[in-house]
Amino acid sequence: MSKSADFSPILDHLAIIMDGNGRWAEQRGLPRVAGHQQGVRTVIDVVDECVRQKISYLTLFAFSSENWGRPQSEVDTLMSLLLEFLASQRQRMLDDGVRLRVIGDHSRLSKEVRSALQRAELETANGKHLVLTLALSYGGRDEIVRAARKIAQKVAAGEVAPEAVSAADFEMALDTAGLPDPDLLIRTSGELRISNFLLWQLAYAEFYFVDVYWPDFGPVELRQALESYCQRRRRFGLTAEQTAEGEGLSNNVS
Ligand code: FPP
Repeated sequence: MSKSADFSPILDHLAIIMDGNGRWAEQRGLPRVAGHQQGVRTVIDVVDECVRQKISYLTLFAFSSENWGRPQSEVDTLMSLLLEFLASQRQRMLDDGVRLRVIGDHSRLSKEVRSALQRAELETANGKHLVLTLALSYGGRDEIVRAARKIAQKVAAGEVAPEAVSAADFEMALDTAGLPDPDLLIRTSGELRISNFLLWQLAYAEFYFVDVYWPDFGPVELRQALESYCQRRRRFGLTAEQTAEGEGLSNNVS
């Protein structure tokens, strides 16, 4: 493995479904909250490792639209952990050039959470190394419906003809406007599904499912996922011959 400080990143955009906090805690006879607390520590370590690996975009599924249906005490705990995370990581994000961004339908978030997120987005807006996107109160279908509504409004207002609506227009109407599509999706905890995460954006992503629960995931497991990604040949619907052109020798995870 190369240890050079000057290496090319393995990929641009990593997306992660952080799963298994509850089971991690239950396995240890602990309350579910302990799993979420440990999960936040994993988030911090993974963000650090992404900066080290020069990954430009990291998108984390932190709270789904469906998670609102969990017991209120667990929802409250997750929101408190988010607020603590924003406060405790503020300086670190600024020092490391991490720019925070949020996606999802935030109309259900409390005013306190919304303003803390807005503040963090503003304060970190000049971060140049990593865009950390938190998907909060997020569902892929909901995002697509909201995007379709925005476009329908433009059509209804006569600003755009229906036949002129393009995939690029649609992408600009999504919450992720401006972000490249993820190259790799990791899901922890052994579940083999994408659970309404980034349904449009994951069209050509590589998937990596790993058995460990999120609180046990860390830099070592992340590097294993990146090594696996390096072995993949992405074809984007083309032939192997076409996509072989321009591919260099395989990258090493540093
Ligand atoms: C899945 O575990 C995890 C979540 C629903 C929330 C993820 C949240 C965190 C890691 C902490 C807060 C995040 C940030 C960015 C500060 P689960 O509870 O569904 O686990 P289970 O499937 O084993 O029950």
